[in-house]
Amino acid sequence: MATRRRDEHSPSEVIPEGMKILPLDPIFRERPHEVLKELREKCPVHRDREFGTVVLSRHGDVEAVLRDRDYGVDPRKAREGDPVRRFVPPEGEEPTMLFLDAPDHQRLRSLVSRSFTPRRAEAWRPLVAEVTRELLDEVDRVGRGEFDLVEALAAPLPAIAIARILGVDPSRQADFKRWSEAANVAFFNPFASPEEQQAGADALAALDECFATEIAKRREAPAEDLIGRLVAAEEDGDRLTERELVRMCNLLLIAGNVTTSDLIGNGTRVLLQHPGELARLRDEPSRIKNAVEEMLRFDPPVTVSGRISSRDTEIDGVAVDARESVTTLLSSANRDPAGHADPDRFDIDREAIGHVSFGGGAHLCLGAHLARVEAQEAIGALVARYPRLRAAGGSEVWKQVPSFRGLSQYRVRVD
Ligand code: HEM
Repeated sequence: MATRRRDEHSPSEVIPEGMKILPLDPIFRERPHEVLKELREKCPVHRDREFGTVVLSRHGDVEAVLRDRDYGVDPRKAREGDPVRRFVPPEGEEPTMLFLDAPDHQRLRSLVSRSFTPRRAEAWRPLVAEVTRELLDEVDRVGRGEFDLVEALAAPLPAIAIARILGVDPSRQADFKRWSEAANVAFFNPFASPEEQQAGADALAALDECFATEIAKRREAPAEDLIGRLVAAEEDGDRLTERELVRMCNLLLIAGNVTTSDLIGNGTRVLLQHPGELARLRDEPSRIKNAVEEMLRFDPPVTVSGRISSRDTEIDGVAVDARESVTTLLSSANRDPAGHADPDRFDIDREAIGHVSFGGGAHLCLGAHLARVEAQEAIGALVARYPRLRAAGGSEVWKQVPSFRGLSQYRVRVD
């Protein structure tokens, strides 16, 4: 009798897959971890019958594939029909660093990574604290006992902070937030409407023009801000070209804004759902660093990443062909009991958290340290400033973008 492959299931067997493991599905949106647990337990290495990609949900498999240099990310190398081919850039355009393999990826990464060290991120902390203070002062000035945390703090903070870090004209901050949101929808959401696609393309064009102007200014007068540093960055006599500089600035905006907003929203929400943890953080504010790592593990803003196999291989007995993509479910890996003791318990003092929320290997999130500083400052300030901070109740609205999890509305009370 032929043995059944580990990833083979009868059509009647119910395995969470396809649209059922995307936030477009209302059950997944409300209870993602129940759905992911079912997938992890029923078929942890699963060939998704709707999307045709191999889906990994265990911590060990996800971490191993993210780090494995036999896997790449360049969508142009995926075979025809593979879902990741939607990220192939238009004719004549190179992919951004996020979708490039070595040696091109290594080259770009080494030219920018010195601007994103933990020390650099610490140097930006006072600026981030100042932006946080300004936004919360505005909340207090209006004097509302209840407000939408997303609108008042989580959404604007990363856009304003990165605009100031880059050194962009302050008068363009509102445009920046708008452009980066529109570009993000078009860039990451395969289900964006034609209008959203157009708005995204317009936003990218506006950002390109704005960055080109800022770069030209730095060439005239060198500056210590991030654009100035990127313009001056040199590695073994190599520099970023004009086009690479513009695209790098765009990538920083797109990759860093909505993700960090979502961390602030998701993190605050989970903290307010656990009053004991909130009280512990209030007692000992220095716990905020570890608390943010636990927030990243518990409810990560980027829920999915992926890789493309460069050769015929197998994962736990499931064949993966060369040029086939593998989907890594980051939020599932973070709740795998094999990787984390008592994974559904939110514990701000958890030790050796080891989440994969910033991905892994060569593509590990470039802006991770900055994102941490922003979330630590934002959530730390909320807790310190509002002794009666609590959820307003019945007010949360989740976004519906695949591969991301974030709130578009979350009301809190502070009176
Ligand atoms: C909480 C906030 C953030 C989360 C959850 C996040 C998550 C991620 C993830 C999952 C990846 C892909 C890693 C992989 O596949 O191995 C990534 C890559 C990247 N992120 Fe972030 N990110 C965040 C904030 C930021 C910020 C603030 C910036 C920059 C200002 C940034 C810039 C980048 C860049 C440039 C890459 C591509 C790195 C490469 O390909 O070498 N991210 N991020």
